[in-house]
Amino acid sequence: MTHPIIILGSGYTGRYLAGSLATTSRPFFATSREPDRNLSSMPADKRMRFDLQQPSTWRNIPAGADLIWCFPAAPLDQVQAFSRTFDTPARRMVVLGSTSAYEASDRSDEYPPPWTDESAPLDLSKPRVQGEEFLRKNCGAILLRVAGIYGPGRNPLDWIRTGRVSPTGKYVNLIHVEDLASICLLALDKGKRGEAYNVSDGQPHTWNEICATAQQRWGVTAAAANENPSPGKRISNAKLRSELGCTFRYPDLYEAMALIESAEG
Ligand SMILES: NC(=O)c1ccc[n+]([C@@H]2O[C@H](COP(=O)([O-])OP(=O)(O)OC[C@H]3O[C@@H](n4cnc5c(N)ncnc54)[C@H](OP(=O)(O)O)[C@@H]3O)[C@@H](O)[C@H]2O)c1
Repeated sequence: MTHPIIILGSGYTGRYLAGSLATTSRPFFATSREPDRNLSSMPADKRMRFDLQQPSTWRNIPAGADLIWCFPAAPLDQVQAFSRTFDTPARRMVVLGSTSAYEASDRSDEYPPPWTDESAPLDLSKPRVQGEEFLRKNCGAILLRVAGIYGPGRNPLDWIRTGRVSPTGKYVNLIHVEDLASICLLALDKGKRGEAYNVSDGQPHTWNEICATAQQRWGVTAAAANENPSPGKRISNAKLRSELGCTFRYPDLYEAMALIESAEG
């Protein structure tokens, strides 16, 4: 029998996951701390209340369901307590982490920064990294260390327009939300238990380059940079491609930005 998939935390990525799953025959449910308010666009029989901070809601998760965990896995004591309710070792679980887990390697003086693969040292002082590593090592979670998520409604051109980012030599790694949603499902099916996979489109860019392209192609002018940033990271997605056979619908940031801009403009 096919296990239902529970999208734990249905925000930006979770909604795209729900959209993908709705086109398949795989049963799924989406959770929110306030499902009636935040999931009103989803059919009522697909919504579920779940709050990591409220143990009374944990029993809403059906036994044996596969999980795709889409919010920061913290604090550790709540993550551990929730994990004790996992009934069956057959359950598969994908956890969305962040490439900020590798913050320690961000302090390298090398430029351009060296490629970061899954063996790079982690910053275990971060609560979410503690939770992610607990789930990976103790519960067989397939951990996705995710780069910056962009897509419709999260348009890098808007980040430049509003001054959230500015032209610097800092490297940034990105993944389109539709590719991320597909990768979550690929990892649920094919990922190896207890493994971590970096998730990015594999094309790190500097903000200097993105801002110059924004000016040239879309006439978007960036605010002047007022700080000397770290070099950033260059995230390798080689493991994702070689071990999961991942391909990308949006491998080119600028083509994807053009599509987002024309749809939103
Ligand atoms: N945004 C980025 O660029 C980026 C980059 C790397 C990694 N990530 C990580 O990737 C994951 C998905 O990102 P996203 O931007 O799609 O996330 P998001 O839009 O913030 O969605 C996560 C949803 O989870 C629910 N949630 C939050 N805390 C919860 C809790 N304690 N218990 C139960 N539900 C909770 C919230 O929905 P309700 O309020 O409806 O409960 C929230 O909307 C997150 O872990 C994020 O940190 C994001």
